[in-house]
Amino acid sequence: MNSAKFFLITLTIATCSFSAITNAQDAARGAELFKQCIACHGEKGDGVPAQKAPRIAGQFDWYILKQLQDIKAGVTRKNPVMVPFVSKLSEQDFKDLAAYISKF
Ligand code: HEC
Repeated sequence: MNSAKFFLITLTIATCSFSAITNAQDAARGAELFKQCIACHGEKGDGVPAQKAPRIAGQFDWYILKQLQDIKAGVTRKNPVMVPFVSKLSEQDFKDLAAYISKF
């Protein structure tokens, strides 16, 4: 095998494993994103009664993901206070947040 071919194969493998990582849930990224949620949900997701924001700590990641999707879509779940926050976030952001929150 010539070195150019070897380089291309190596590059392909590296690219594939990189995209597998970025598509997975990234709790560390979720921790960064969660900073904007703390005012209402608390540092550890325990909820803030004064904000009428529920406890989300310990919830399943798939449930958190679904609520974030539904709140952003605003059809089956209307949550006007959260819309300004979730409307700026992507599907990947939601997955990362769900990974982080579900580990409290
Ligand atoms: C301005 C306050 C506020 C901010 C900021 C906020 N939330 Fe909320 N959140 C709420 C309130 C209030 C509810 C409950 C609303 C309802 O009754 O549907 C809620 C509901 C939720 C729920 C659904 C809980 C359940 O049990 O169904 C999740 C998940 C959630 N928030 C996650 C987040 C995340 C993640 C962020 C940051 C990106 C965030 N919230 C930012 C106020 C806020």
